[in-house]
Amino acid sequence: MRPRSLGVIQALTEEHHDILRQLTRLFIEVESRKDTVETFARLRLELNRHFREEETILYRPLGAHLGKDSPIAEMIREHRSIQSALARVGASLKPHARRRTYFDDLRPMLDSLDKLVHAHVNKEERVLFWLAVTLWQGRM
Ligand SMILES: [Fe+2]
Ligand SMILES: [Fe+2]
Repeated sequence: MRPRSLGVIQALTEEHHDILRQLTRLFIEVESRKDTVETFARLRLELNRHFREEETILYRPLGAHLGKDSPIAEMIREHRSIQSALARVGASLKPHARRRTYFDDLRPMLDSLDKLVHAHVNKEERVLFWLAVTLWQGRM
């Protein structure tokens, strides 16, 4: 792991901002009973791509360096939980739905997706990214 990889952390952090913005947009659409299908499809695509990238360029080298006590297995489990939550929301979406009950049913599913994503992103930015930067700068 080399210091030039620090740009990776910057890029992943910017992607987090983008993902959280899309989640907010999704909530606004649900609150105003608008079609969420397109925003959700973008969010799911972006999250899956982000997870693949993280697992390849960050988790793998970090896990190899830190060994069996690393937090990587837990972080990967969190990715899978978020993907399951995405699948639940995805299965419930109906294009052009307008009924209040449809949006009432959608809200708790989005709430749990939102909680999982926020907790995961916080953990990465406060713990994992810090750990990676510390390692890459040779301070550990
Ligand atoms: Fe992640
Ligand atoms: Fe991330």
